[in-house]
Amino acid sequence: MRAYIRGTGSYTPKNIVKNSHFDAIGSSDEWIYDKLGIKERRISTGETTSDLAFQAALIALSDADLTPLDIDLIVLATATPDRPVPSCACFVQEKLEATRAVSFDISAVCSGALFAAATGTQFIESGMYKNVLVIGADTFSNITDWSRRDAVFFGDGAGAFVLSATEEDKGFLDFDLHTDGRGKEHFTIPSGGSERPTCTDTIAEGQHFFQMNGKEVFNTAIEVVPQSIHAILKKNNIDIDAIKCMLPHQPSIRILKEVARRVNLPFEKVKTNMDRYANTSGGTIPIILDETLKNESFDQGDLLLFSAVGAGWTWGTALYKW
Ligand SMILES: CC(C)(COP(=O)(O)OP(=O)(O)OC[C@H]1O[C@@H](n2cnc3c(N)ncnc32)[C@H](O)[C@@H]1OP(=O)(O)O)[C@@H](O)C(=O)NCCC(=O)NCCS
Repeated sequence: MRAYIRGTGSYTPKNIVKNSHFDAIGSSDEWIYDKLGIKERRISTGETTSDLAFQAALIALSDADLTPLDIDLIVLATATPDRPVPSCACFVQEKLEATRAVSFDISAVCSGALFAAATGTQFIESGMYKNVLVIGADTFSNITDWSRRDAVFFGDGAGAFVLSATEEDKGFLDFDLHTDGRGKEHFTIPSGGSERPTCTDTIAEGQHFFQMNGKEVFNTAIEVVPQSIHAILKKNNIDIDAIKCMLPHQPSIRILKEVARRVNLPFEKVKTNMDRYANTSGGTIPIILDETLKNESFDQGDLLLFSAVGAGWTWGTALYKW
């Protein structure tokens, strides 16, 4: 039994924030576009993460020709749930009225959708479930200090795809997943958990906003993502030339160009959309997947790579056969 992508959907807030918005805090369109490849991002004006996830899920279900009652499992990747408790997946399950589905969140930040896809695939390959709704959704605008220059990196958005069981030779072939908790300080939200519960001091110090060591993110990403791609290709005895395209997480254009160079993948084969959405964290992979499929079609047997790296550290690659 394999898990294949039966339908996709994505949804981003209507509100567009262009790079010029950050002139006031000492950034510029030139710097942001040159370093990151971002022109603009969507920022929620009140919609929660589960609102975005719900809209993306509705589109994915319609694309898959399924109803919410066909869904056995909802796996939602997010670092910005509506509330710490209960899970954001529970909010989405309620909105969808997917009353048959069990639902839970995955916490792997920018690698979340990849880890969620791997989780959903295991439930299908084991025979336990037939239809799994995988969602990646984030509203990093809620954990951003808008007075700091690192506010330029992220946008809000959600993507979803339905995984269904098939006996055909298609779907997810393999996953290469990794975590290294020694990197935990390089991208973190210091307060709001059991280590530093929220209090007036943590709020005054802005510890409820994300803190990022951009150079460490860059240097780690360009090391570990190529290693993971090499590993999955080697394990499956596949040459990089056989890859039709890569649908990566969208951290920065420079990271993706360097990853492509290191694995000998022509950059034309790497899908990007950070110019319009910036980094939507958990949303990036399902959004780029949905957009790609709305604009082009793959042939049976085409091989795709999904790759991601995020806080934790977490990172990995998936190999998919169309
Ligand atoms: C953050 C990053 C762009 C920094 O690139 P870099 O070439 O190392 O740049 P530096 O840190 O040396 O800074 C270069 C200059 O830009 C300035 N700068 C930093 N942030 C800026 C911003 N938002 N806008 C404008 N200028 C900025 C710095 O102050 C520095 O100025 P100086 O030369 O006058 O001192 C790069 O490390 C990166 O892309 N990291 C990955 C971040 C990422 O993808 N995060 C997503 C999480 S998955």
